[in-house]
Amino acid sequence: MTCPALPEGFDATDPDLLQERVPLPEFARLRQTAPVWWCPQERGTTGFDDDGYWAVTRHADVKYVSTHPELFSSTVNTAIIRFNGGIAREQIDAQRLIMLNMDPPEHTRVRQIVQRGFTPRAVRGLEDALRERARRIAEQARATARAAAAAGGDSGGDGGFDFVTQVACELPLQAIAELIGVPQEDRLRIFDWSNKMIAYDDPEYAITEAVGAEAAMELIGYAMHMSAARKECPAKDIVTQLVAAEGQGNLGSDEFGFFVLLLAVAGNETTRNAISHGMHALLTHPGQWELYKATRPATAAEEIVRWATPVVSFQRTATRDTELGGQKIRAGDRVGLFYASANHDPEVFTDPDTFDITRDPNPHLGFGGGGPHFCLGKSLAVMEIDLIFNAVADHLPDLRLTGPAPRRLRAAWLNGIKELRVSHP
Ligand code: HEM
Repeated sequence: MTCPALPEGFDATDPDLLQERVPLPEFARLRQTAPVWWCPQERGTTGFDDDGYWAVTRHADVKYVSTHPELFSSTVNTAIIRFNGGIAREQIDAQRLIMLNMDPPEHTRVRQIVQRGFTPRAVRGLEDALRERARRIAEQARATARAAAAAGGDSGGDGGFDFVTQVACELPLQAIAELIGVPQEDRLRIFDWSNKMIAYDDPEYAITEAVGAEAAMELIGYAMHMSAARKECPAKDIVTQLVAAEGQGNLGSDEFGFFVLLLAVAGNETTRNAISHGMHALLTHPGQWELYKATRPATAAEEIVRWATPVVSFQRTATRDTELGGQKIRAGDRVGLFYASANHDPEVFTDPDTFDITRDPNPHLGFGGGGPHFCLGKSLAVMEIDLIFNAVADHLPDLRLTGPAPRRLRAAWLNGIKELRVSHP
């Protein structure tokens, strides 16, 4: 079946397309004419044993699927994986140990345990340390900006520097390290493994799947070691609460290992891209940047996540025959949830294509559609975004773009920026 509103072969999970842009005009046409649309894919190119998936583009339908795990399962694989040449079966099997890919009741058990690390109190407890980090990151970037201006650019020859590597990368990693109490001396190793794992299918990083998988194994091993140490010798920290708390249920060492792996992926590149896109949006909407600097609205972080939608899509698999948006979905069909489309749905947002940091209410689905898998790290992410933009506004108030356009990541479901050239006088 071809969608009358779209060119033949259109696939919103095609990494070549996402490297260019998020297909917002196509999403708008789908929402209007075919909100639940069968997107054919060539067998053998996705890692799934099927011929395509249903693309769900309206806000209401994305919410419906997210909140009905009994109809739409997460166990097959939540991330839309599209590796050229396919993906090793073992990798899909290993991903089943990650909570993102579990259904209730297994998911409920793990979620109840790990939530202990994300209570409002636990997140508030990280704030001072992360504020200090954010300040140091912005100050260092200021020093880099000065040196770059003097030398004619750090490498780009434009008198500027790369905002992604100098500013956006570090805080999300520090936040995860802070959360699980990774000692300072081990952090660079953790950062290196995390960065290798998220390099995905962008050939520019020259990270083979084997190197990514090895980094994942090393990170899991490190976390399992941490967990075993706390079981032996409990301390007053989150790891102890998750793995060794008495009488409240706890995670096995391997479960903790995979949880840390999930944090390193789910909490890292998502927040990094929200920060990079947020900076780009603020600098391309100068009125909004001036407003931000003057008033620091608490609503800004949520609008940045709506606007950026770092996770363009996740997916579910139908557990039985059902209906969605007038389409008959068969048991076993994959269903793609396009958060990026839902976040521009005019049924829900006034002027959805306007970037407005005072938007309130802002019921965006950037952190998921509200079901059992709703982003565990949402309040941490919002806090990180607030802290970094406050620090940038304090220390780099006259930041400006120097390059023509951000260089985008090649990935199937991430709205990623690899490089964003900026300068500061
Ligand atoms: C799940 C987005 C930051 C940890 C998710 C989901 C989305 C998402 C879309 C899936 C929701 C669903 O399937 O219904 C984001 C965005 C972030 C961000 C856009 C930054 C702007 C973080 C951070 C952490 C984190 C900082 C932790 C350090 C998780 C975890 C899950 C998750 C553990 C899985 C929850 C589960 O399966 O129950 N996130 N996330 N995320 N996120 Fe985030």
